[in-house]
Amino acid sequence: MTHGRRPPGRTLHPMCGIVGYVGGQSALDVVLAGLRRLEYRGYDSAGVAVLADGGLAAAKKAGKLANLEKELAGRPLPSGATGIGHTRWATHGGPTDANAHPHLDNPGRVAVVHNGIIENFAALRAELAERGHALESETDTEVVAHLLSEVFSSCGDLAESMRQVCRRLEGAFTLVAVHADEPDVVVGARRNSPLVVGVGDGENFLASDVAAFIAHTREAIELGQDQVVELRRDRVTVTGFDGTPADDAVRAYHVDWDASAAEKGGYDYFMLKEIAEQPRAVADTLLGRIDAAGSLTLDEVRIPASVLREVDKVVIVACGTAYHAGMIAKYAIEHWTRIPCETELASEFRYRDPILDQRTLVIAISQSGETMDTLMALRHAREQGANVLAICNTNGSTIPRESDAVLYTHAGPEVAVASTKAFLTQLVACYLVALYLGQVRGTKWGDEVGSVVRELSEIAGEVEEVLETMEPVRELARSLADKNTVLFLGRHVGYPVALEGALKLKELAYMHAEGFAAGELKHGPIALIEDDLPVVVVVPSPRGRSVLHDKIVSNIQEIRARGARTIVIAERGDEAVRPYADHLIEVPPTPVLLQPLVATVPLQVFACELATARGNEVDQPRNLAKSVTVE
Ligand code: G6P
Repeated sequence: MTHGRRPPGRTLHPMCGIVGYVGGQSALDVVLAGLRRLEYRGYDSAGVAVLADGGLAAAKKAGKLANLEKELAGRPLPSGATGIGHTRWATHGGPTDANAHPHLDNPGRVAVVHNGIIENFAALRAELAERGHALESETDTEVVAHLLSEVFSSCGDLAESMRQVCRRLEGAFTLVAVHADEPDVVVGARRNSPLVVGVGDGENFLASDVAAFIAHTREAIELGQDQVVELRRDRVTVTGFDGTPADDAVRAYHVDWDASAAEKGGYDYFMLKEIAEQPRAVADTLLGRIDAAGSLTLDEVRIPASVLREVDKVVIVACGTAYHAGMIAKYAIEHWTRIPCETELASEFRYRDPILDQRTLVIAISQSGETMDTLMALRHAREQGANVLAICNTNGSTIPRESDAVLYTHAGPEVAVASTKAFLTQLVACYLVALYLGQVRGTKWGDEVGSVVRELSEIAGEVEEVLETMEPVRELARSLADKNTVLFLGRHVGYPVALEGALKLKELAYMHAEGFAAGELKHGPIALIEDDLPVVVVVPSPRGRSVLHDKIVSNIQEIRARGARTIVIAERGDEAVRPYADHLIEVPPTPVLLQPLVATVPLQVFACELATARGNEVDQPRNLAKSVTVE
């Protein structure tokens, strides 16, 4: 059993995955299996606590869950049917044993795990110290354990204690706690950070994400903002922080993917599986959204057509890979609707006092639906009166819940930290929204929408074709394993594709990788070109917009003349580019705007293979987390 201690003066802001269980099985086994599914949320340390034999036993360890499991194998915990667990992603404060959760009160009767930030923890800590509590760490979480312990000793009810404590907390948090005096109860609380209840038969679960309990039940309840849940074997009771029963506001739903979808399915890595799933993910995201006449039926987009017709500006906010999808969406939206569109990093958006009003449509793109920067951006947008449409992959997550409407991507669970299939489905959803706006506003007539839709409906097959021809890309990647730098160039929609290719390489291969707009090359980046430097160039179709094509072919010649090794992604049959490509990766012909759907795939495979060749962990790259729920 350990308590957290960390250097004075450093604040700890964990993001993390949380699991709670009460039922007839071994709580430790259920919790550990759940944590395994949640490691994507962070893997700096892990910890568990179980209630057994009238007491509480806990263990925690820095590093991945495997370290904790090793520790438990040497020092097993007593077996009990109530337990909680945590896997952490540190933002401040080292990923040490001491900083790992759970945190306990002094008598070791309460254990708490936490995701988020308790902003007023310093004041609470000072207050507790005055009342004689000996806090052993400076974590914000430990304050909660002590407060719960104090309140519990007067009211004897953990859920009530949690409500009282939560009313005193500031910040964003998910908390899950157990108390040795209530051995059949797990209590959770939620403000901003995610928490879902899994409703079983004679057993109940709590987790940051349904993936943690999907092997046991597919019935879920999404907790609302400022709610506390009391979990017993046969009962789930939800109240507001003020004690008001929340039954009407509780959102129960059925999870429509199963446990096998969250497993690797025979692949070495989740990322490989997810890359391979892209044709299906793309097809599923299109499914049911196009009627027999080729028109779009986006019933989910509940923003009335009359409002959409009045929209005079579209603003897209997102982070990471989702931001690159948003950059591509800008080209499609402006082209198909003629509405000015800007795409902005969610983390920058609200701090520059953006101009928004009722005629602004804000599109928030997020795989997880929990990214704090994106959530804060959409809240700011709604405060200014803008309508917010979420494009999201996670049913019931916070971003769609707080938006005016949501268009779900149907990628299925994405586990690998580096996003692949979610990106392709985000693109599909963006194209659908752009076409829908064009349809509603009459800038794109039925037959024109129909022809793009026809092209889109063939895309899944084309992605499949790309996947079948990836062996040379893998070989090429292996041959570049000892390089330090790779550059990526593109024009038009190929520019965000270049940025995405570079991001994948940074995330996975830990290489210096940068994406540039090819036209900017001559304004600086060309100075980086030296002998044998690998440069990946995304070349648009030679058909239609051939000016764009010709310009980039010139750019390839410029870098080649300076010694670059050119790796060219071009449309099959593009003979003009062939002489200048040291390595040619061919993709099926598509309309210019849709090319990112096929051109990104080789870049994903390239990064994944380079990571493997360099001995890196593919699914859980260092320092990253899949869902970043801190700003
Ligand atoms: C993290 C992940 C990225 C992801 C980004 C946005 O940084 O590592 O892969 O693109 O968050 O996540 P979201 O869930 O909002 O799409």
